[in-house]
Amino acid sequence: GPAFETSGADGEKLPDIEQDAESCTRCDLYRNATHLVFGEGPPKAKVLFVGEQPGDKEDQAGKPFVGPAGKLLDRCLEEAGVERDICYVTNAVKHFKFTPRGKRRIHAKPNAGEVQACAWWLAAELRLIKPKLAVALGATALYALLGRQAKVTRDRGTMLRSPDGLPVLVTIHPSALLRTMDQPDAELNRARFVDDLKKIAEFLE
Ligand code: URA
Repeated sequence: GPAFETSGADGEKLPDIEQDAESCTRCDLYRNATHLVFGEGPPKAKVLFVGEQPGDKEDQAGKPFVGPAGKLLDRCLEEAGVERDICYVTNAVKHFKFTPRGKRRIHAKPNAGEVQACAWWLAAELRLIKPKLAVALGATALYALLGRQAKVTRDRGTMLRSPDGLPVLVTIHPSALLRTMDQPDAELNRARFVDDLKKIAEFLE
């Protein structure tokens, strides 16, 4: 097919899969979310980033990584010398899970069952984009990509491999940096995250 289309062996296409995902009821999170937030980026992206789930801003916009964590990720990628236009960004879980608190919606961590239900869509994204490298941003993403065997604290900064041979770079979630911005080691933590991201550019050289 044309270069701008990404289709699998049996002709499946990412936009069709996204449309199917929009009516997903594989878990209950669709009930309270505003939008399904599918991944976004070039269909031939070399690097596929996996976050946890859309946040409040992403749920409203229907697009991944448009809020504070996404802006921080963009700045750190630039510092690490990774071109944003070779990156596809998505999440382990594609509906926002939250607890209402007054007018605010507080992020709630997706559970293993929700991650497993949503792995269907992540598998489709990986199958059609065929990235050279996946980047696990935090524990939920790492669980979605590699299951229980990998640990962020132990494996951070290293390149692991999924059962089907995809290299997976392990790092933290940028929202962890946002939560610790007022701590004395904030600068160091950010520099360490940028160092992890530099491994993407090195890998692709
Ligand atoms: N955090 C995530 O994990 N994903 C997003 O899309 C936004 C924030």
